[in-house]
Amino acid sequence: MDMKSIIKLGIVVLLLMWLQKCLYNNPRELNVEFVPEMVHSVPFDAFSDNPNYQNGHTLQMPVVGTIARGFLPEYSESKLTEELAGEVLINPLDKTDENIVRGEWVYRTYCQVCHGMTGLGDGPVTKRGVPPPPSLLTDNINQMKDGQLYHIITNGKGNMASYRSQVQRKDRWKVIHYIRAMGN
Ligand code: HEC
Repeated sequence: MDMKSIIKLGIVVLLLMWLQKCLYNNPRELNVEFVPEMVHSVPFDAFSDNPNYQNGHTLQMPVVGTIARGFLPEYSESKLTEELAGEVLINPLDKTDENIVRGEWVYRTYCQVCHGMTGLGDGPVTKRGVPPPPSLLTDNINQMKDGQLYHIITNGKGNMASYRSQVQRKDRWKVIHYIRAMGN
């Protein structure tokens, strides 16, 4: 091997060693960063501090009264009694077959365990010691306004817990249509 080849080989070896050092990934120390903008984003991260807002957070709460796109407004139920809800809350959805079908799905998913498949209050949990709810097919229910039922589903009543977080607003109105259709 002549001198030139040895020098060339030496250069290649040095180059490889340098590359190896650059690409070596040691999790314990800061390594070389290519295109660092991809690692450290320029905009504020969702949960990072942000001096541009008064409260110092990047994520801001929606403005009071904001309604998410595609959602119905939520009422300040805490101030609304069941009777009052019956007066002021009107079912905004039509009693279409589609809404009833969706209501039925909601009913079977969340309500029938207690209220029973046909609404008689004989769901499976009532056979295991849970006090049975009243039938949903009585005159009592027929006389209740939709808003009143909405209030019960949203806030619960007596032994029945609130279904506010499980059943979304539109579905609450739809399940009411289904309950009304059940008796017929
Ligand atoms: C854990 C059992 C349980 C589940 C699940 C449940 N309920 Fe109830 N529900 C009850 C009980 C118990 C009552 C009676 C409350 C009272 O008056 O003390 C009741 C009452 C009601 C009433 C009023 C009935 C009346 O005559 O006063 C309506 C309407 C109603 N539920 C609808 C629903 C709907 C709609 C769902 C599903 C989203 C649902 N319930 C899920 C147990 C349940």
